[in-house]
Amino acid sequence: MITLAISSLKGGVGKTTCAINLAFSCAKRGWKTLLVDADPQGSVGLSLSPSAQAYIGLYEILTAGVPFEQAALKTKIETLKIVMAGKIPSNEISKWCASLSDGTRLAPFFKIANDAGYDLVILDTPSGLHGPTEGILRSCSHVLVPQQCEPLALRSLMLTVDFLNQLQTENEDACSLVGVVLTMADRDVEDTQKIVEEIKRVLPPELVCGAMLPRDPAVIHASMKGMPLGLIRGGAPPAIALVFDQLAAEIETKLGLVAPEQSDEYVSLVV
Ligand SMILES: Nc1ncnc2c1ncn2[C@@H]1O[C@H](COP(=O)(O)OP(=O)(O)OP(=O)(O)O)[C@@H](O)[C@H]1O
Ligand SMILES: [Mg+2]
Repeated sequence: MITLAISSLKGGVGKTTCAINLAFSCAKRGWKTLLVDADPQGSVGLSLSPSAQAYIGLYEILTAGVPFEQAALKTKIETLKIVMAGKIPSNEISKWCASLSDGTRLAPFFKIANDAGYDLVILDTPSGLHGPTEGILRSCSHVLVPQQCEPLALRSLMLTVDFLNQLQTENEDACSLVGVVLTMADRDVEDTQKIVEEIKRVLPPELVCGAMLPRDPAVIHASMKGMPLGLIRGGAPPAIALVFDQLAAEIETKLGLVAPEQSDEYVSLVV
């Protein structure tokens, strides 16, 4: 089972947007996927349901022994379930964050998900590389870093790459960087192009995802409606929904997720 954290040093770069829509696209591709809101702020829930604060989730599974099946929410797609952050009392948040900072805290949860047959667990994390996010990164197999196309990007990106290299120096099985996905890209803006070129110059080419997420008002629309971009109806899907499908295909290859029947180059539609 792959455990993929969506993390970045900087806040507001599109981690939650990426976690929700990538999980949706991966599930559509047939992978048994679990989306986990590991951000104590509960951003996944806030983006998907007006009553998100009422849902139990990761907090209750790990602190109150609530059964996984009771906390994992069904979705419109059979292959996708969601574990929300949970109802964390405000006076318990710092204790909860401190416990997540321990790199072993999620191990029992991952064991349950693995036993339940999940192929992929995607975790939305708080921004920063310290505290809970550091603990989550220490317990995940992989990380995807969304990076906004802006001048500050390069500095935070290099710090992130250094940090992840350091984790691997400490332990070679530590979380490996799957790639950096550029977000909120304005293709028509010349400065954006320069930043993209600079990022491609300093990072090994295989670490820069080919899928680049455009800045698109559909993201805010989808979040107001509490749905992934791929569920927006009424005309053609927004272009960014298709870019998430492209990203999912790319990540699938990078993670080595291959269904046995897909290992041939020739795949017949008719079975
Ligand atoms: N591609 C996009 N186009 C337009 N708006 C976007 C895009 N991606 C994200 N946004 C908007 O940017 C804001 C930040 O996005 P998001 O919450 O996904 O970032 P985040 O990295 O999870 O933030 P935080 O660090 O606070 O957890 C949100 O209002 C979201 O709707
Ligand atoms: Mg977020």
